[in-house]
Amino acid sequence: MSDDSITSILKEDRVFNPTAEFSSDAHVKSLKEYKKIYKKSIEHPEKFWAEKAKQLHWFKKWHTILRNDHGFFKWFEGGELNISYNCLDRHVNAGKGNKLALIWEAEDGEVKRYTYSELLAEVCKFSNVLKGHGLKRGDRVCIYMPMVPELAIAMLACARIGAIHSIVFGGFSSDSLKDRIDDCEAKLVITADGTFRAGKIIPLKVNVDLAIKKNKSVEKVVVVKRCKNKVTMKKKRDLWWHDEISKDNIEDTCPAESMHSEDSLFILYTSGTTGKPKGVLHTQAGYLLYVYQTFKWVFDAKDNDVYWCTADIGWITGHSYIVYGPLANSSTTLMFEGVPTYPSPDRFWKIVEKHKVSVFYTAPTAVRALMRLGDEWPKKCNLKSLRLLGTVGEPINPEAWIWYHKIIGKEKCPIVDTWWQTETGGIMITPLPGATPTKPGSATLPFPGIVPAILKEDGSEAKANEGGNLVIKKPWPGMLRTVWGDPQRYKETYFGKYEHIYLAGDSARYDRDGYFWVMGRNDDVIKVSGHRIGTAEVESHLVSYKDVAEAAVVPIPHKIKGWSIYAFVTLKKGTKGTEKTRKNIVAHVAKEMGHIAKPERIQFTDFLPKTRSGKIMRRILKAIAEGKKDVGNTTTLADPSVVPRLIKGRIK
Ligand code: PRX
Repeated sequence: MSDDSITSILKEDRVFNPTAEFSSDAHVKSLKEYKKIYKKSIEHPEKFWAEKAKQLHWFKKWHTILRNDHGFFKWFEGGELNISYNCLDRHVNAGKGNKLALIWEAEDGEVKRYTYSELLAEVCKFSNVLKGHGLKRGDRVCIYMPMVPELAIAMLACARIGAIHSIVFGGFSSDSLKDRIDDCEAKLVITADGTFRAGKIIPLKVNVDLAIKKNKSVEKVVVVKRCKNKVTMKKKRDLWWHDEISKDNIEDTCPAESMHSEDSLFILYTSGTTGKPKGVLHTQAGYLLYVYQTFKWVFDAKDNDVYWCTADIGWITGHSYIVYGPLANSSTTLMFEGVPTYPSPDRFWKIVEKHKVSVFYTAPTAVRALMRLGDEWPKKCNLKSLRLLGTVGEPINPEAWIWYHKIIGKEKCPIVDTWWQTETGGIMITPLPGATPTKPGSATLPFPGIVPAILKEDGSEAKANEGGNLVIKKPWPGMLRTVWGDPQRYKETYFGKYEHIYLAGDSARYDRDGYFWVMGRNDDVIKVSGHRIGTAEVESHLVSYKDVAEAAVVPIPHKIKGWSIYAFVTLKKGTKGTEKTRKNIVAHVAKEMGHIAKPERIQFTDFLPKTRSGKIMRRILKAIAEGKKDVGNTTTLADPSVVPRLIKGRIK
């Protein structure tokens, strides 16, 4: 996003009210009703959440709603439940076995449908496969898969037997996969022979083979046959999914483990300030309750909805709002394997028409990209089934918001701009679609039970429109519980700046109506197309290239992606910064980390701006990359004369 559009967010003051028709039928029907619920929820949070928790199925009721154990929060201790049971058996037992749970559309247009009973049977079969290979409560399973139904089935099967899943986005390289498998010491890996992306086959199994070459913890690899891609199957270690589930002794029933509320459910790695990705840990009951309740109110869940979230399950959005949230609400959730524009630019809109999608949730990047392709594509499709739209992952610029509202929502669908994070488990700041008047670019107001604030560096509260650090002042059920294997990092990263207050890592402000406007990250994280990339991780992959001596990475605004990566690179003596070197470096990063981490621009330089103690001043580099004339104070630099030279070499 350019500075201009950030300014336009700041100036945006149009207000859009939900239609009377939408509100009259919504779970929360007016701003007044929201305010009443909100007030109660923060005056008596434990009572509020306990009441909601009663809607879930518990094997054993909790005795303590919330406890602060030396800075580690515990919810619903004493209680026992199972998330797979709550997403499947609960609905089948309530007579909804024939309702559609999952619709899957493949890249080539093939469609598979699973009712709740069918999905339950598939999950049970795979649970039995896992059990048959010795998997038990607490074991870690790494899932590195394309967007196929087996991915959702694998997650729910892990949850059913109490194994902890750790999903790695299929776009990550073998190296990134290796780090994640090693960190959580996975016992089993689930993958596929490959996947389709815009007509091309992308191999996955080969990345797993490379990732676990020297690994000692992985005992088995289960492989889904997706594209008949030739793969090498290692004897005794590698198993075909279809062989395993069709064995005679594999039954289609499997009792769900009774899990303690605070047992681990999944680990999801995400980028932070230092090089190593953090394993964000979520647990059973609090996470389930949080995604259940947020899905219900934010997406105004209705029994006949067809809900489609376009994210990949490899990210938190897919975990919470393709699988667990919708299924906990007995909704019909759609999963799509391909990309928005293949084979034609109206692919998304054709899917909406074909499956009569009623609730559609995507990223601002996708909205911007589809907007650029022209109105004729959505206009050719019948989008009448849509009643609610959503966005997630990055701020949405008002221009894209208005296009989404007019061309896709036909000015009748509310838009929920939802702010949240891997760590928060579920949506935190958001409109409730029947209640909250929306302003393009603002995530609006907190979800009930959530107490956000904007704090200045000294810990005092910022005034309206002043801006500062976005924090959450009270614990909530969906919050991360720790960083896997590194509790100290959990405390330092999230609770180190302000005592007992969760630091989100975003800068934001609220306006005179109390509406929150999130500006973006204020740490060393770059949101590229809504994906979260750590600059330190990219830098370490840049310097691992044979000719690179030193590197520093900063974000620059990008019209479609929001932000992209600008790298300053110092080459080793004797190497020239040619176009070929640049291409090789980009290819190296793509191979080592994944395509999403590729630098958009590389500026070769013999010098980086450093303080006398040798620290690279990224603030100055950021200003230079953005083409700012004034790069701020340079007096702390060991050699301020590098600045004009760097400005001269800027890549436009
Ligand atoms: O900077 C915020 C941005 O995405 C970050 C979290 O990224 P991740 O953990 O990958 O989760 C993304 C999906 C939940 C936040 O710190 N972000 C997310 N939603 C919004 C947003 N920024 C502005 N507006 C949003 N609606």
